[in-house]
Amino acid sequence: MNVFEAIQNRYSVRRYQPRPVEEPKLLRLLEAARLAPSASNRQEWRFIVVRDPQTRQALMRAAKHQPFVAEAPVILVCCAVTDNHVMSCGQLCYPIDVAIAIEHIALQAVTEGLGTCWIGAFHEDQVKEMLHIPKAVRVVELLLVGYPADAAVTKHRLPLEAIVMYDRWAG
Ligand SMILES: Cc1cc2nc3c(=O)[nH]c(=O)nc-3n(C[C@H](O)[C@H](O)[C@H](O)COP(=O)(O)O)c2cc1C
Repeated sequence: MNVFEAIQNRYSVRRYQPRPVEEPKLLRLLEAARLAPSASNRQEWRFIVVRDPQTRQALMRAAKHQPFVAEAPVILVCCAVTDNHVMSCGQLCYPIDVAIAIEHIALQAVTEGLGTCWIGAFHEDQVKEMLHIPKAVRVVELLLVGYPADAAVTKHRLPLEAIVMYDRWAG
């Protein structure tokens, strides 16, 4: 499977099989994150691998009780050890850098036969407290990982002509 096929096949998996994720596969996902680019190679990302069923239940509650959160056999708690560095373009580095690493994981997961779902609807304070995450560290996203028990649906996306302009802002 090439990268474009992985992009085409990725979707947000919201039903998971109980089957565990094999260690070599999990390590390749984490390696895909480690190889991601980051602003000035800052590598602010940190990942907590959560497999313990009780902790996953607690994360589900912190994620606004989205039930499928606890179904995923692995939850990656995607954090940033950050000094809130802002690039000269005015953008914060860490959310961008962590997001790139997360999508590396999501695409590698597709090639491994795994599914993922980004979870941004969660209470950061609750996640930090339960996992003993230091105050200064930010929790950017949760990423669910596991074998899908559902199937992809049609992607609803804007057409290219609605999102791409050439040479100048148009419209
Ligand atoms: C930053 C981010 C946060 C998201 N948070 C959630 C979430 O909390 N719950 C959920 O079910 N899906 C969440 N999603 C998944 C999106 O709803 C999904 O990517 C989008 O609807 C497109 O569908 P697809 O991923 O299947 O292509 C999130 C996605 C992103 C990128």
